[in-house]
Amino acid sequence: MSRILTALQPSGILHIGNYFGAIEPMVRLQEEGNENILFAVDYHAITVPQDPGDLRANLYYAIATYLAAGIDPEKTILFQQSRVREHTELAWILNCIAHMGELERMTQFKDKAVGKGEAVTVGLFDYPVLMAADILLYDTEVVPVGEDQKQHLELARDLAERFNNRFGDTFIVPEPRIRTQGARIMGLDDPTKKMSKSASSERNYISLMDDEKKVIKKIKTAVTDSEGIVKADRAREGIFNLLSIYSLVTGRPASEIEVDYEGKGYGDFKKDLAGEINTFLAPIQDKITEYLDDKQQLIEILDAGAERAQALAEEKMKVVRDRIGVTL
Ligand code: TYM
Repeated sequence: MSRILTALQPSGILHIGNYFGAIEPMVRLQEEGNENILFAVDYHAITVPQDPGDLRANLYYAIATYLAAGIDPEKTILFQQSRVREHTELAWILNCIAHMGELERMTQFKDKAVGKGEAVTVGLFDYPVLMAADILLYDTEVVPVGEDQKQHLELARDLAERFNNRFGDTFIVPEPRIRTQGARIMGLDDPTKKMSKSASSERNYISLMDDEKKVIKKIKTAVTDSEGIVKADRAREGIFNLLSIYSLVTGRPASEIEVDYEGKGYGDFKKDLAGEINTFLAPIQDKITEYLDDKQQLIEILDAGAERAQALAEEKMKVVRDRIGVTL
């Protein structure tokens, strides 16, 4: 049995990359009897400006989505990051051993800081340290994430080791779990870059809430190439990505799907792919809507989750405070 933990930002859009990169792996690992922890990182979300009303709505939507995907709040501790104050407390302590240089090297920070100049916030810069605190606070062994979080995970490992060397064994050094397929779903409009909710066009992603028409339109206009052969060839990023998505939503290997489309063009393939995505999304969307209709139930689940998480976090912080010498 392992302690498995992951977290996602509560944003108005969760796309199939988020689903296959992080949510679905958590559902699978939950069935193996692990100790699962999953939360919506609202204090990470505010590293970029957020409208308070939207943030509140996005939190409900995030939790409804995890539940709709199959997260069982009995088996998984499900909560909202800001409810467990120890996350920010530990982040402060880790700030005092983290180096400016290593944070400056974070590629996600560099991408997000573009154009902000001197006005880039300290929160955005410090974001990976809060993430390290999220992980280390719970003696996490395994962190299922998409490929883009690998560098942040490395930092969490480095901070755990640095703290342990300085103050004695305190933190478990966590391992990332990055799936072989689905860890990096690419943008539909530009398959050389990852699918991202902050892309300039909504043609870039399939949101879990996209309706049938939108999915058909987005897949129809997805970038491919002029070869017209449906094959899982990494060098042909567009069709490779669409085949991966086909494989993920149907659970069938890409090699088998290729055979179905021998001698057929991209038109047939894209039409079927849109249909498969819609079949896959429909039951999830129904469940999300059902959960959102009962906010009281969501609040009760979050209260119970926060209580369980807080008990673990408080135990750990007692040790951490003692190690650094602030308990008298
Ligand atoms: P976030 O909210 O950007 O993304 C949530 C998860 O979705 C994965 N992901 C993808 N996977 C495959 N293909 C894609 N195109 C794609 N885009 C996103 C991400 O890798 C991630 O696993 N910093 C984190 C949240 C976080 C966290 C943590 C994660 C905060 N504390 C502790 C793990 C453990 C983030 O912003 O993810």
